[in-house]
Amino acid sequence: MITANETIRREVEKHGVVSFARFMELALYHPGTGYYEREKSPGKRGDFYTSVSVGSLFGELLAFQFAEWLEAEAGNQKPEVRIIEAGAHDGQLAKDILNWLQSHRPKLFSEINYTIIEPSPCRQKWQRETLKDFKNVEWFSNFENLKSKTPNSKLNGIVFSNELLDAFPVRRFGWNAKEKKWFEWGVSFDGDKFVWAKIQNPEFRIQNSELESVLPDNFTLETSPAAESWWRDASKICERGKLLTLDYGLTTEEIFSPARTNGTLRAYFKHRVSDDILANAGEQDITAHINFSAIQKIGEDEGLITEFFDTQSKFLTEILAKAAKSNSFREWNSNQTRQFQTLTHPEHLGRAFRVLVQSR
Ligand SMILES: C[S@@+](CC[C@H](N)C(=O)[O-])C[C@H]1O[C@@H](n2cnc3c(N)ncnc32)[C@H](O)[C@@H]1O
Repeated sequence: MITANETIRREVEKHGVVSFARFMELALYHPGTGYYEREKSPGKRGDFYTSVSVGSLFGELLAFQFAEWLEAEAGNQKPEVRIIEAGAHDGQLAKDILNWLQSHRPKLFSEINYTIIEPSPCRQKWQRETLKDFKNVEWFSNFENLKSKTPNSKLNGIVFSNELLDAFPVRRFGWNAKEKKWFEWGVSFDGDKFVWAKIQNPEFRIQNSELESVLPDNFTLETSPAAESWWRDASKICERGKLLTLDYGLTTEEIFSPARTNGTLRAYFKHRVSDDILANAGEQDITAHINFSAIQKIGEDEGLITEFFDTQSKFLTEILAKAAKSNSFREWNSNQTRQFQTLTHPEHLGRAFRVLVQSR
């Protein structure tokens, strides 16, 4: 099988240079050999560690919140209610959510259809294996496919993802302060390794062009057209209910802070941050913070109302406070305390992850 690394090398040979977005797309998603196609188990054995890897509490708290939202809407809804997850990877988060609903909200559990949007046949296979005990799970390769197979139903419920948007391929730009213009970072090949190469990109501009006059030379910026287009599609799919994402991300103001001049692109190789983003293509995780201001605006332009935008710490702490009042997490043990601390502590996952909830 031809590897991600080899495919990128051939494309570079053909074109001289490829955009970084294309490099990242192939490194992460090349069929069969891209990073997310090979790495089945996040957490202990894999390189990427998410809130799901911490334990089942994350999914249980989300399940409690989802139940609250869906039950509050119950009177207004048609019988079919969907929880739509994208970026489900090996299906573990879906399993944690469904297990909790089955034991704590059996009526709601019997009414919902858990829908997974998964373009990769290989990941769908992992998910089907993890979720084989649940009969109310359905798979679609994308939103269009879901819409075309359910033409007469209005999509009610919740559309959500955890660490999906920050895993979409990004474009990477640099600011040439002397010439007052942006260039795009592409990828070329030198001897035996991939190297950065500048692509002149005179048409790229940021919205606030006054800001450009104060940017230092080589200021680096990533944009994620794929994440933005995904959020637009998700907003359209969410005909009644909530749209939610939990991701690494910043506001536009934070992205242009004077302390942050090198962008947010990171690679993780064997649990460690790797300095060389272009090394180990297909074998290391690559991620960049999303621009939450841009994402929020897209949802609002599609008619959604922003209900919450804050840290994961605040989001989960508010859920736990509601859950404690309703006695939903009565048998709390030290393992859950440890998980909750990891999920909410600012030095762990509490501050780096932000949560955006929009509704229609
Ligand atoms: C960082 S992982 C997060 C996995 C999981 N949600 C978790 O929190 O552990 C990102 C996942 O999104 C998947 N993904 C990428 N593009 C996707 C798309 N267009 N639709 C659905 N999933 C996608 C990746 O393959 C990967 O499994």
